[in-house]
Amino acid sequence: MQFDPLSREFQRDPYPFYDVLRAETPILYWKDWNIWFLTSYDDVSTLLRDRRLGRTMDHVLPHESRSVKSFPDWEAPFHKLSAHSMFDKEPPEHTRLRSLVHKVFTPRRVESLRDRIQHITNKLLDTVQARGEMDILEDFAVPLPVTVIAELLGVPEADRHRLRPWSHDIVAMYELDHTEEQGRQAVQAAIEFSDYLREMAARRRREPQDDLITALALVEEAGDQLSEDELISTCVLLLNAGHEATVNVIGNGMLALLQRPEQMRLLAQNPGLVKTAVEEMMRFDTPLQLFRRWVLEDMEYKGYTFKQGTEFGLMFGAANRDAARFPNPHDMDITRQDNPHISFGSGVHFCLGAPLARLELQIAIETLIWRMPNLRLAGETPEYRDTYVIRGLKALRVGF
Ligand code: HEM
Repeated sequence: MQFDPLSREFQRDPYPFYDVLRAETPILYWKDWNIWFLTSYDDVSTLLRDRRLGRTMDHVLPHESRSVKSFPDWEAPFHKLSAHSMFDKEPPEHTRLRSLVHKVFTPRRVESLRDRIQHITNKLLDTVQARGEMDILEDFAVPLPVTVIAELLGVPEADRHRLRPWSHDIVAMYELDHTEEQGRQAVQAAIEFSDYLREMAARRRREPQDDLITALALVEEAGDQLSEDELISTCVLLLNAGHEATVNVIGNGMLALLQRPEQMRLLAQNPGLVKTAVEEMMRFDTPLQLFRRWVLEDMEYKGYTFKQGTEFGLMFGAANRDAARFPNPHDMDITRQDNPHISFGSGVHFCLGAPLARLELQIAIETLIWRMPNLRLAGETPEYRDTYVIRGLKALRVGF
């Protein structure tokens, strides 16, 4: 079996490749990119919590002084945008930013959205109900989380159609093989998105509203506040992280259910299973397949010595299908109880939006199956997009 993370065959179905890698070379050096790929649950979850690794290493060794390829000047606006969010910080800066954001993006604020999420879900399904068919992605899975996060932050309805294209262009940079053209689009999106939010934040400071942008603009902890750059980067992070993966859990998870009528029936007859079903969807076909980490100080791990600056590729999709942690890992079992999947990450960067994602997914899946009990695949076999890190379908056509 020839492993090539850029091949179409791997992107379409990486799971058989993961099994071979995990069994034969669980810690694999990939010369082409100078990166170490890890595939076992034990390694991925252990290293996510290891403080000798970071999502960035700019705080210990500035980018300019590293031997890694430096990014071209024209990419600067993109990197500036990510550099000011908690996503690209490590403690103590990360702790400071995450704590400020967490002060206003609370579980209580999330729970208060329950009725709105149910309402948006119902409205989207009302629109398609009479048609007897839809594309679960475009008609449902995309607009639901985009609308929720846009409402939560306070983006006016008239501007919401701009969010998805901006976000799409920006996250394309997380793919391993993005082209220069994609890079230029990401930069353009980063500039436009930042300008838009800068203006909006300024308006909210003058005229506060009951929304998360206002709360973030005004949040204060021990005399500390978010700077303007931090505020903008945080809003972009929340808008992007707040929907890209959720879309694909609905798409990938519904495809898995549609292909397993006995699991679909079980859920339709026992709506109380929706919580374990959602966790299983996230494990079974992981929406974000890979996250990278950098070695912050020379370290030993399992008999290897890794130098400062070494890059690790933690394969979440592989960890979630590891038989050493999940019995019958290739079976989708919506009743699975012991399911510590890694899809929300682990350690200091554990997904801040997990309570919101879980709430949205539970409402979306339960309502969809309750309202459309005869859901079935329609049209051609669904295809995955030509991406690896963000794993999702091009479309998911169903009849009902
Ligand atoms: C099913 C949907 C989601 C999945 C699978 C997901 C997954 C993840 C993962 C794996 C990380 C950690 C990345 C790493 O360790 O390198 C993360 C971080 C994050 N997520 Fe999510 N996420 C989802 C939904 C959301 C939502 C709805 C929001 C917010 C509205 C959100 C906000 C964030 C933020 C702010 C971080 C950065 C946390 C930090 O760096 O401390 N996510 N997410």
